[in-house]
Amino acid sequence: MTLHASPSTQIRPYVAADQEACLAIFRSNLPRYFDPSELPEFEAFLDKPSGEYFVVALGAPLVACGGCYVREGVGRLSWGMVAREHHGSALGTQLLVWRMDRLFLRPEIDEIAIDTSQHTAGFFARHGFRTSQHVIDGFGAGIDQVSMSLQRSAYEAARARTSPAQPSPTASLGGCGD
Ligand SMILES: CC(C)(COP(=O)(O)OP(=O)(O)OC[C@H]1O[C@@H](n2cnc3c(N)ncnc32)[C@H](O)[C@@H]1OP(=O)(O)O)[C@@H](O)C(=O)NCCC(=O)NCCS
Repeated sequence: MTLHASPSTQIRPYVAADQEACLAIFRSNLPRYFDPSELPEFEAFLDKPSGEYFVVALGAPLVACGGCYVREGVGRLSWGMVAREHHGSALGTQLLVWRMDRLFLRPEIDEIAIDTSQHTAGFFARHGFRTSQHVIDGFGAGIDQVSMSLQRSAYEAARARTSPAQPSPTASLGGCGD
């Protein structure tokens, strides 16, 4: 089931058969973006994803994956990553914008939170996320844990600047369950 498609990419829900491809995407981001100790945690997550998890296909190969869920009324992003060789191709932006649209379609959600590293905090800051906590080496040696959040007001202001249209019609309500 394709949930969103651009001329070259498709976003669809993760299925168990995607596990190896997602692990390969994770490994391609070692050791700069992820610590090797996080691999078993990601593997366990893929065995039983909490909330919703998606993959991005560029033709046949999977090139990115990422999820979202809601906890205590706050939207959250989980395990978002683009295959190292495809960084800088706008895939990360496409997946992030789509997940933000999907979460903020739920009127009760006023905030999206993420824990990321110092290497990607700048990427999220470009989308209006602000840092609330920064723990040196929080994810492992050389990989800090940076907690960031995006308020609905900042998201809507950014949307109004870039496009007067409503959120993507393909980002349908009902996903990213608790
Ligand atoms: C963070 C990540 C998802 C970004 O995806 P991407 O496809 O490489 O990014 P895009 O091509 O969409 O980048 C869009 C813009 O953000 C900028 N950007 C990308 N990564 C950035 C970073 N780490 N810091 C600041 N800006 C960044 C790009 O330069 C680009 O700018 P431009 O539009 O002016 O050219 C990707 O680098 C990644 O998978 N990293 C490893 C996994 C990870 O750390 N995930 C974080 C969540 S836990």
